[in-house]
Amino acid sequence: MSPILPLLLLSLYLTLGTTLAQDDEEPLLRVLPPAIAVTPGEEVSLVCSHYPEDLEADLELQWYLPNSEEPISAQEFNETTVNTTQDDILRFSSENGTLTITNASLSDSGTYVCRNVDRTLEVEAEVKVYVMPSYVTEIMVVLAINAVLVLVFLGCYFWSIINDRRYKKQQQAREKLGHKR
Ligand SMILES: *[C@@H]1O[C@H](CO)[C@@H](O)[C@H](O)[C@H]1NC(C)=O
Ligand SMILES: *[C@@H]1O[C@H](CO)[C@@H](O)[C@H](O)[C@H]1NC(C)=O
Ligand SMILES: *[C@@H]1O[C@H](CO)[C@@H](O)[C@H](O)[C@H]1NC(C)=O
Ligand SMILES: *[C@@H]1O[C@H](CO)[C@@H](O)[C@H](O)[C@H]1NC(C)=O
Repeated sequence: MSPILPLLLLSLYLTLGTTLAQDDEEPLLRVLPPAIAVTPGEEVSLVCSHYPEDLEADLELQWYLPNSEEPISAQEFNETTVNTTQDDILRFSSENGTLTITNASLSDSGTYVCRNVDRTLEVEAEVKVYVMPSYVTEIMVVLAINAVLVLVFLGCYFWSIINDRRYKKQQQAREKLGHKR
């Protein structure tokens, strides 16, 4: 047997091994859940973390509001020290990679971004705050009204058929009586 095959296998093994090892070393950020939908007043909680796991680095992860260049924690620090009127930011919290939004409002909908401290890694999460569309109830009302109208129509239709038959029978009876006379 030629010695080439084992050599090939060995080199293949080494190449695969090193690429797999490189993939393993490439850290990523991931967020769970990657998207969330809530109704106003509910709480949102998104957990951002390093993959592979790095609990120590997770502590320094920062969440950003949609289209914001300042991390939530910095805006919060600003609010509590400068005492601006932007106290809505206090509904948000970003600690240890976990973004929490309390008392969600419709305007909280958007794409939130989690970044590591030197901004080399980031991951996005979609938050959707929605109210149950009122047209669902409107459609139900329309359907109910239509059902009533259909019932009324059918009722009238059968009523007229029954009356018609009764009338015809009465006429036939009268005609028979007439013939007898
Ligand atoms: C802090 O608040 C001031 C005034 O509202 C604002 O100009 C500044 O950009 C804020 N800084 C941060 C980090 O949000
Ligand atoms: C911030 O402003 C509120 C009123 O807007 C006031 O009650 C509170 O004492 C202020 N806090 C500080 C630290 O200045
Ligand atoms: C940070 O979060 C992770 C998982 O979410 C948890 O295991 C860890 O104990 C937390 N660390 C701190 C200091 O809160
Ligand atoms: C939640 O937010 C609404 C307005 O968006 C406000 O009227 C209500 O008082 C808030 N509730 C709490 C518990 O903060």
